[in-house]
Amino acid sequence: MSNPEGLIDQAVALLAGQQDLIANAANLSSLLFYALEDVNWAGFYFLKDGALMVGPFQGRPACVSIPLGKGVCGTAAETLSVQRIADVHAFDGHIACDIDSRSEIVLPLVRNGEFLGVLDLDSPLKNRFSEADQDLLEQVAEVFIRSLG
Ligand code: SME
Repeated sequence: MSNPEGLIDQAVALLAGQQDLIANAANLSSLLFYALEDVNWAGFYFLKDGALMVGPFQGRPACVSIPLGKGVCGTAAETLSVQRIADVHAFDGHIACDIDSRSEIVLPLVRNGEFLGVLDLDSPLKNRFSEADQDLLEQVAEVFIRSLG
């Protein structure tokens, strides 16, 4: 990613003064989708009734509900750990929403000890997301969580 500081600053500015979960998730998914290269899906799944329900996103229509423990998103939710997958074809149980997706990163969102959902980005390129990208997106996720108050 070429301008990490710029992205964090933009995220902070975009969410400033607004605590609404849907509004901030919607604007942040748009920011990520348009600011980052080679990303074909960027958005959120939120915990609802014991499963992950699709939230605001940019990209092709996605699977609506993902059970905890299933796919890359469900694994991030169950383990509460970032899933950075270089090749989704090699991930057992990957849920293909967009057949173009080749690599994926999913970050769990935890606020005051409560699991809220995940931030998910897909790329049509294999191995798109580096360790530096993960660091950057962890900061973006933190900006989102803090914006909720
Ligand atoms: N690939 C994800 C499903 C969500 S989409 O990528 C938008 C998964 O395996 O959990």
